[in-house]
Amino acid sequence: MHDKLNVFSPVTWHGSHIHLLDQRLLPRSEQWLQIDSVDAAIEAIRDLVVRGAPAIGITAAYACVLAAQSRAADATSSGWHELWLQDCQRLILARPTAVNLHWAVASMQQCLADAAQADVQTQLQKLQQHAVQIHAQDVAANQRLAVLGAELLQARSRVLTHCNTGALATGGIGTALGVIVRAHQDGKIEQVFADETRPWLQGSRLTEWELQRAEVPCQVIIDSAAAWLMATRNIDWLIVGADRITANGDVANKIGTYQAMLVARQHGVKTMVVVPWSTVDINTASGAEVEIELRQADEVLSFQGQRVARAGAQAWNPVFDITPAALVDYLVTERGVIAAPNQQRILALQRERASATA
Ligand code: MRU
Repeated sequence: MHDKLNVFSPVTWHGSHIHLLDQRLLPRSEQWLQIDSVDAAIEAIRDLVVRGAPAIGITAAYACVLAAQSRAADATSSGWHELWLQDCQRLILARPTAVNLHWAVASMQQCLADAAQADVQTQLQKLQQHAVQIHAQDVAANQRLAVLGAELLQARSRVLTHCNTGALATGGIGTALGVIVRAHQDGKIEQVFADETRPWLQGSRLTEWELQRAEVPCQVIIDSAAAWLMATRNIDWLIVGADRITANGDVANKIGTYQAMLVARQHGVKTMVVVPWSTVDINTASGAEVEIELRQADEVLSFQGQRVARAGAQAWNPVFDITPAALVDYLVTERGVIAAPNQQRILALQRERASATA
């Protein structure tokens, strides 16, 4: 689980293939899959071998390289760019809600467009360098998020988090979980509670596992205990990541985030959403426009491969929800912290950075 970029990364690049830590098996078993083609990458993203918005984006960037290597090697196809763009399109469709997937693929497409006049070997090299850069950028963003987010916490904070937003979900130390681990290192954490996060149990399987590795005190709760926890256990913060922040500050994140945010507001628990800027989708006006991924009914009607509902039972299985921006106290990005995020403040941060780099 060690590579040059990061001491703990679920995605590693090896020049002609990707290694993915199979997150469906954690924490019981640590197994790596070798991904040799864009189709294998699409399957891995769809089947949650790799998950978490930034980690999906990084995997997709490397998958674009695999697709280009394969298309360019087919000497008969002088017009391999067209076929490669189709591969990119299929990649984007693997999971619809996390904007990082779309962002990373679009960035790879721009990279190839910029190198269109170069020879094929140079184009492949540039694509590979760009994917490595996308990965490195996430590592750096995570470090900054952890510092900025942890600064907001007071001593002896009691924190609730949802889903998994740590190293397993990103290229670096994580988003919301990076903040929590950093705050713990700063001596500011009294107790963390992790929602188990039905139906894939990212909280109980992955977040608890990561927190105990970092020696952060953590108790798992069932998702439906969150309201009672916030009503009775002196919780100071609800800290989560996101799969997409729309231009007006709405938050698409793991199903259950919205209800936790509503309860937090009811009980005076402060809310923090932690994302790299690659998760901010300026081109989508509000959460109403975000496609929410619907997954198979069987994920709800079964438990760890064992059917629990009667044969023929029906289920509705949206795996993300939208929290209105009004419920967010702080949006933490590597570009800065926005209190009470809204469209005006998000666009101001976007413009500020654009003029700083112009
Ligand atoms: O279905 P998943 O496990 O990919 O969902 C992940 C989440 O919802 C995370 O909260 C989000 O991607 C932020 S990860 C830094």
